[in-house]
Amino acid sequence: MKKILVTGGLGFIGSHTVVELQNEGFEVVIIDDLSNTTLSVLESITEITGKKPEFHQMDTRKKEDLKTLFDTHKIDGVIHFAAFKAVGESMGKPLDYYENNLSSLIYLLQEMRDRNLDNFIFSSSCTVYGQADELPITEKAPIKAAESVYGNTKQIGEEIIRDASNAHKINAIALRYFNPIGAHSTVKIGELPFGVPQNLIPFITQTAAGIRKELSVFGDDYPTIDGTAVRDYIHVVDLAKAHIAALKRLMEKRNKASFEYFNIGTGKGSSVLEVINTFEKVNNLKLNYKIVARREGDVTAAFADTTIANQELNWKTEKTLEEALESAWKWQLKQG
Ligand code: UD1
Repeated sequence: MKKILVTGGLGFIGSHTVVELQNEGFEVVIIDDLSNTTLSVLESITEITGKKPEFHQMDTRKKEDLKTLFDTHKIDGVIHFAAFKAVGESMGKPLDYYENNLSSLIYLLQEMRDRNLDNFIFSSSCTVYGQADELPITEKAPIKAAESVYGNTKQIGEEIIRDASNAHKINAIALRYFNPIGAHSTVKIGELPFGVPQNLIPFITQTAAGIRKELSVFGDDYPTIDGTAVRDYIHVVDLAKAHIAALKRLMEKRNKASFEYFNIGTGKGSSVLEVINTFEKVNNLKLNYKIVARREGDVTAAFADTTIANQELNWKTEKTLEEALESAWKWQLKQG
């Protein structure tokens, strides 16, 4: 059985990916510092798959702890989710973001290099494209100067991996996620935002649940179908499955370069108002919202051209926006 190390494996995307890995017969070792999740996620994963993954509460910046982990496990691949991810917060804490997101990446790659390990998957983001000149966004679109410190950690992260994979025979794939949403069909795992959610879907579900008074729609004067900004919302289970596809590509040596990157989205753009309307329709409720000014740093529209990911990873999304918004609401209701 192949053993996969998953950093940040108790987070939103990490936990869904661990479930898919276990379903595919991989043995999973999770490390997570629990800074943005809870240990109960480990129990929920175990309930879904019937198998408890090995878990270590660990800060990936602790080089010695990481070294011991690699010394005591034979790791066949690494999926690296652990990172700080709040765009706004990153602007006020640049050094913490650079230190956390980049040192953990470097330490992991160093351990892999020192042991001749291979197969590295990195959580990247469509934020590397900024406001792309052409839509849908292909992997050929130029990388724009990062709008946020968080975004810059993803850009620099990709550069570090590219250089390391050139020099050290570490084959790697960066997955550039568009907007992950939704929850597992068992409603046992989902997104657990601490504090006031910054992302659209958790803010919508918390508003519908009465935790927030109303949703602010940031801007209705964008040059889009209805004036609100357009994104590519991908069900987190589809996104999780892309990691398995990428891992298999590396393990089966089907990759065409030592470092590759793919857009992971649905290929379909939805405006904020379309998301709200769909949420109201599938869940049969009304959402309290008002239009306010644009949010600084937001782009007008971003959705993926998934042709290359579909072909090369032999992967495609299977779930709809409706299913994602239904599952997000069920998950919210379970939180009480
Ligand atoms: C944001 C980050 C992106 C990151 C991603 C992770 C910014 C500028 N970008 O993407 O780098 O990779 O999260 O999930 O923060 N919206 C509202 N009201 C709200 C919240 C959001 O109208 O209360 C709108 C936004 O203006 C945007 C859309 O909903 O048009 C999606 O917002 P969000 O979920 O925050 O994702 P992104 O901004 O696309």
